[in-house]
Amino acid sequence: MQEYIEKLNIIKETAFREIAEAQDSQTLENLRVKYLGKKSELSNILKSVGNISVEERKTLGMTSNTLKNQITEMLEQSKLRIIEMEKQRRFKSEAVDVTMPGLKINDGRLHPLKKVMKEIETIFLGFGFTIADGPEIETDYYNFEALNIPAHHPARDMHDTFYITNNILLRTHTSPVQVRVMENQRPPVKIIAPGKVYRRDSDVSHIPMFHQVEGLWVDKGITFAHLQYILTEFMQKLFYKSIKLRFRPSFFPFTEPSTEVDISCVICGGSGCRVCKNTGWLEVLGAGMVDPEVFKFVDYDPEIYTGFAFGLGVDRIAMLKYKINDLRLFPENDIRFLRQF
Ligand code: DAH
Repeated sequence: MQEYIEKLNIIKETAFREIAEAQDSQTLENLRVKYLGKKSELSNILKSVGNISVEERKTLGMTSNTLKNQITEMLEQSKLRIIEMEKQRRFKSEAVDVTMPGLKINDGRLHPLKKVMKEIETIFLGFGFTIADGPEIETDYYNFEALNIPAHHPARDMHDTFYITNNILLRTHTSPVQVRVMENQRPPVKIIAPGKVYRRDSDVSHIPMFHQVEGLWVDKGITFAHLQYILTEFMQKLFYKSIKLRFRPSFFPFTEPSTEVDISCVICGGSGCRVCKNTGWLEVLGAGMVDPEVFKFVDYDPEIYTGFAFGLGVDRIAMLKYKINDLRLFPENDIRFLRQF
């Protein structure tokens, strides 16, 4: 009997010590199994007892039960201690030093061309125009035919077209959007169409993909004076200063009369410099009154409606606005160049 009491004492001593020393919840769980589990020494002690009296068995049972309760209580306390300890450990490891300097974020910028496009759009939205859109892969019909440039017309030679098939090509200008819009809408039509255009051209002042903004205003009573007014106002707003416009007679198959528009040099103010090749003028767009032939393709009655159209070279405008002297910098996307805008 004494032997068993002693055994219980040893269990008590080691259990208390081990539980008190436990540092984490897994260890504690292992100890619970070890001391209170079905296969624990404590659970088995009564089974292993040999020849003792009923009285002694009772005492032994009570003692081992008390010990079980004590261990349970002890485990409970240790659990609270360990939860608190683990919490503190986590606080420490997850602590954030709010006084540390933040990570530098490399914020994006708009490409200078995109910026100019947006500015142009904003100005025309202010004039009551809406923004239209058309495909960059275009058919011969929209790019040429319906713009009064039939097959074998010499004007086609000016365009250095990228053909995909006989009939499908990369649009050489944004003018086809005019036709697409008028096909789907009765007058009044008052749109601009910004976008990419493609030509087989590559030298210092030409790249095979560049940008245009097309403009079209068709209604009853639209005259050349409207064109002059809108373009003049537009240039003032775009360059934030008073700009002179010069309308030179020209030819486009889809406008009659046609004009090429120069602005007084925004670099030298018109006195002559390298950018304007000492002429004082910069050529920036083509324009004119929509040719009645074009109206026929979209079933507008030229006896009732008139309109003006223009096509603006955006890359050139962006170069002038940001004083960039090489067109090829735009598609290169050198980050050091782009960061400056
Ligand atoms: N599409 C012509 C080009 O790319 C530019 C142009 C000229 C557009 C006159 C027009 C216009 O709308 O009326 O060269």
